[in-house]
Amino acid sequence: MSDKYYHTKESVEEYTQLAKGVNGSSLIEKLKIVLKPNSNLLELGSGSGTDWKILSETYNVTGSDNSNEFIQHLKSTFQHGNFEKLDAVSIETPEKFDGVFSNKVLHHLEDKELIASINRQSEILEEEGIICHSFWLGKGSEFFKGIFVKYHEEDELKHLFTKHFDIISIDKYAEFEDSDSILILARKKK
Ligand SMILES: C[S@@+](CC[C@H](N)C(=O)[O-])C[C@H]1O[C@@H](n2cnc3c(N)ncnc32)[C@H](O)[C@@H]1O
Repeated sequence: MSDKYYHTKESVEEYTQLAKGVNGSSLIEKLKIVLKPNSNLLELGSGSGTDWKILSETYNVTGSDNSNEFIQHLKSTFQHGNFEKLDAVSIETPEKFDGVFSNKVLHHLEDKELIASINRQSEILEEEGIICHSFWLGKGSEFFKGIFVKYHEEDELKHLFTKHFDIISIDKYAEFEDSDSILILARKKK
């Protein structure tokens, strides 16, 4: 078992406490404008399941994470939920979805991994499928609690996603401080 943050029982408990009161409801409201209720949605990096719970009020959501500890936590907290252990880069699932959502997950990927993830998301999406992802806004990268964190700028995200997706909107927003975050919503190209 990995001893990295997000992959131990202690770090999952700590993260769940730290993230209490933080959720992606305003992002999910934007998703709801473009993705119909009851659509099949894959959430990458569901973590403690705060966003999964909100999403599941509207969508048929499959939650996922690459941490066994988080998957165990999700399965025991939401016993009727559908959760799979998936890495956001390889997304090894035979299923197809109408949408893919993540909230502050893809910033843990190196550039090459993010490109691979975007390619794979396009493969697992139905025609005109929707993606909705949030990132920390800015330049450069750092390690936080031992895990890689990459900041992204608007033009860079546009450039990365436009190979497979038509951008619907790309908006800065405040998670903790003014314009510390950015949300991209896009539709798979025909
Ligand atoms: C900031 S949390 C996301 C919180 C989530 N939105 C919520 O509602 O609690 C980041 C999550 O991404 C997961 N993660 C990080 N890298 C990942 C990867 N390559 N594949 C899948 N999940 C990943 C972590 O295990 C963690 O659960």
